[in-house]
Amino acid sequence: MIFKAFGVMLLVLAVRRFWKMSLKVEIYKKGYINRPGPCRNVLPIETGSEDIALASNGIAFISSGFKNYCEHASDPRNKLFVGRIYKFDFNMPNEDAVEVNLPNELGEYFNPHGVSLWQDPIKGEMRLFVANHRQEGETVEILRYNNEANSFSLVRSVRHELFTSVNDVVAVGPDSFYAANDAYIRGCWRIVEAFLGLPWCTVVYYDGKDAQIVEKGEGFNSLAVSEDGSSVFLTIPFDQQVNIYKRHKKDGSLEFNRSIEVGCTIDNVFIDHTTGDLWFGGHPSAHVLGKHIADTDAKAPSQVIRVHPKGPVDDPFSSYQLFSSFGDDGELVSGSSSVALYKNRLLIGTIVHKAAICEINTVRN
Ligand SMILES: *[C@@H]1O[C@H](CO)[C@@H](O)[C@H](O)[C@H]1NC(C)=O
Repeated sequence: MIFKAFGVMLLVLAVRRFWKMSLKVEIYKKGYINRPGPCRNVLPIETGSEDIALASNGIAFISSGFKNYCEHASDPRNKLFVGRIYKFDFNMPNEDAVEVNLPNELGEYFNPHGVSLWQDPIKGEMRLFVANHRQEGETVEILRYNNEANSFSLVRSVRHELFTSVNDVVAVGPDSFYAANDAYIRGCWRIVEAFLGLPWCTVVYYDGKDAQIVEKGEGFNSLAVSEDGSSVFLTIPFDQQVNIYKRHKKDGSLEFNRSIEVGCTIDNVFIDHTTGDLWFGGHPSAHVLGKHIADTDAKAPSQVIRVHPKGPVDDPFSSYQLFSSFGDDGELVSGSSSVALYKNRLLIGTIVHKAAICEINTVRN
């Protein structure tokens, strides 16, 4: 009897889980074209622009050539992708993106995912933090940018046993950062981890010497930090939400404050420091996105979401407005995963496809 009851309970749980997931993958959702102004593709990017980090002078660094963790679920061409960092200068918006030379120490195999920029407030030195899925293990590369030479030099490669599957990083100092692990399992079995809803994702704080887990849960993806360093934002794509944490600078710990339901499978988060707005590259249909990952020629829709805070200075997201700022059927950009805004232009990146730049002529608020 007890076994029967247990069996029924398991079945109910499985059906509930399946129902919840089938709603979230948005099987029937279409991508609607919605342009904030004239848009064009940014050449020569063809093999992804998964994440973007923006410098205060308008130079955007774009990670390209992300190779998926699970070969069986990916287009066979994906494993041949070459990892690159491009730069795009918002001050010359009609130019192409330019590849930045990487240090030889990184070797042949470079598999960049999330990127984050740290700028020295006095010296102006720029460091790009890159989540790199090295074959020998998850690594966060800290690279120093040299503008004249158009190159990066390697400051250090940070490896830690708590880095299980680093999707994104956010720098909070010259060698301190948070890393978001999107799973515990690195290979194809991660799908089981995700389906069972195992809370094995973590946010790890690295203080320059050692790392510690500061948050655990399910479905973590990307990170951002507010300009004053007091708030951390974490996206949870399949829950279609972003979590906001108060950050304790002394020990790097995070205290959950609130979550915002965005209503779209959001990917990388970008903060516009001039307004405090949160921007997201998003996927209207996770189901179609999966097909696109499996065959890049099958297009996936794109959507850019903006959350505009309306609350008081000490609690800005206690109220907010949601905007859909860009939409595409997948022809211009397929599977938008990242976004950066500078003045009146919006740069949009994708997981394994192209990138686009749009003028934003509409009134912002
Ligand atoms: C979130 O932060 C605001 C501002 O500090 C505070 O008033 C509110 O109580 C916090 N909420 C939670 C759940 O901690």
